[in-house]
Amino acid sequence: MKRKTILVTGGAGYIGSHTCLELLEAGYDVVVIDNLSNSKLEALTRVQHITQKTLVFHQGDIRDKHFLFEVFSRHKIDAVIHFAGLKAVGESCEKPLAYYHNNIYGTLVLTETMAEYAIKTLVFSSSATVYGDPESVPITENFPLSATNPYGRTKLFIEEILRDLAQADQNNPVSSPWKISILRYFNPIGAHESGLIGEDPNGIPNNLMPYIAQVAVGKLPQLSIFGNDYPTSDGTGVRDYIHVVDLAKGHLQALLALFAKQPEQGGCQAYNLGTGSGISVLAMVQAFEQATGQKIAYQFAPRRAGDIAACYADPSLAAQELNWRSEKNLDAMMLDTWRWQSGNPEGYR
Ligand code: NAD
Ligand code: UD1
Repeated sequence: MKRKTILVTGGAGYIGSHTCLELLEAGYDVVVIDNLSNSKLEALTRVQHITQKTLVFHQGDIRDKHFLFEVFSRHKIDAVIHFAGLKAVGESCEKPLAYYHNNIYGTLVLTETMAEYAIKTLVFSSSATVYGDPESVPITENFPLSATNPYGRTKLFIEEILRDLAQADQNNPVSSPWKISILRYFNPIGAHESGLIGEDPNGIPNNLMPYIAQVAVGKLPQLSIFGNDYPTSDGTGVRDYIHVVDLAKGHLQALLALFAKQPEQGGCQAYNLGTGSGISVLAMVQAFEQATGQKIAYQFAPRRAGDIAACYADPSLAAQELNWRSEKNLDAMMLDTWRWQSGNPEGYR
C-alpha cells in the first residue's frame, strides 16, 4: 500500500516538530509548511537526524493562496494536521487583528484550498482555553464553550467554522464529506527524550514549564508564582500537564481514526488531550526539583489576569474513540525538559 502523505502546517514549531518526528517514525511521508515566524528550521533538521528519515519543507505562509496551491499541486496529500497559528495570550490582547488574521483567515485559506483539492481529512490544534472558566473539573468535551481573550476566541471561532463545514457536507450527498478531529490540548510540556528538540520560546517565557527550566539553567533569577489564594489544595493554580510526545502521538491516533472511517462517513468531533490529573504550581516546582536535583528559587506574586483556579481534562473520549492515553509521568516530563534545557540553554540558536 502506498504510504500516506501528511501535510503539517506549523510543523517547525514546538508541538509540530514532535509530531513530525512521530509521523516519520510511523512510516508516513511528511510535508511541512511553516513561515518560521515562531520557530527555527534547525528543529526539523534535528527531527531528520533523530529519525534518519527525510521530510519535505516549504517555507511560506498559510494565508498565501498561491503558495498553498503550489504545495498542494506538488504533493499528493492524504490529510492535513493544522498547527500553524499565533499562541501568546497577552500578545493577542495587544494585537487582536494580527491574531484574527493569522489564525482565522489562515485557516479559511487552508480549508478552501483543501476543498479545492478534495482533501477533506483534517486534524486541528485547539486548546482547553475554549472551556473558559469551567464550572467544575474534570472537563468533558460537552462543557459549555467560551473565550476570555482574542487568542481563545480564534480557537473558538475556528472550531465553529469547522463544525459548520462538516455539517454543510451532511446536507450535500454529492461531495465526499469532511472528516475533522479537533484536539483540545491541555498544558503540553517536556521534550523528546533525545534532548535534541524541545520548546524554544522567544524572550521571557509566559508559560510555567519553560520559566522553571530557565530559572534552573540560570537564565532567570526566580519564578513568580501567580497567586497562592486560589481555592485549590495549596492555593496555587492547578493544571493538566501533558508530555509533548504523548500529545504528538494523539495526532497519529486521531489520523488513524479518521482514515478508518467509511468514505461517506464525515463529521467533526472534539477530543480532550490531557492526562486527567491536576497538578498545582507548587507541586510542579517540587517535582522538578526532585527529578533533576536543581533548586528553583520562587516568590509568591499576585494572580495573573485571566488565570483560572483549576483546569484538567476528562480524557476518556479520546481513550474510547481514538485508543489514545497519555503514558509518560511527571518525572519523565521534568527530566526531558531538563535534558533539553540544559543541553540547549539558548534553544536552537
Ligand atoms: P509554535 O509557535 O511553536 O508553533 C506554531 C508554528 O506555526 C510556528 O512554527 C510558526 O512559525 C508557525 N506559523 C504561525 N503562523 C503561521 C502562518 N501564518 N503560516 C505558516 N506558519 C505559521 O506553537 P506550538 O506550541 O507548537 O502550538 C501549535 C498549535 O497548538 C498552535 O495552533 C497553538 O495555538 C496550539 N496550542 C498550543 C498549546 C501550547 O501550550 N503550546 C496549547 C494549546 C493549543
Ligand atoms: C496558558 C494560556 C492558555 C493557553 C495555555 C497553553 C494564559 C492566561 N493562558 O495557560 O490560553 O492555552 O497557556 O499554551 O496565558 N504560572 C506561574 N508563574 C509563571 C507562569 C505560570 O505561577 O511564571 C502559573 C499560572 O498562573 C498557572 C500555571 O502556572 O496557574 C500554568 O500557567 P501556563 O503555563 O501559563 O499555562 P495556562 O495558564 O494554563
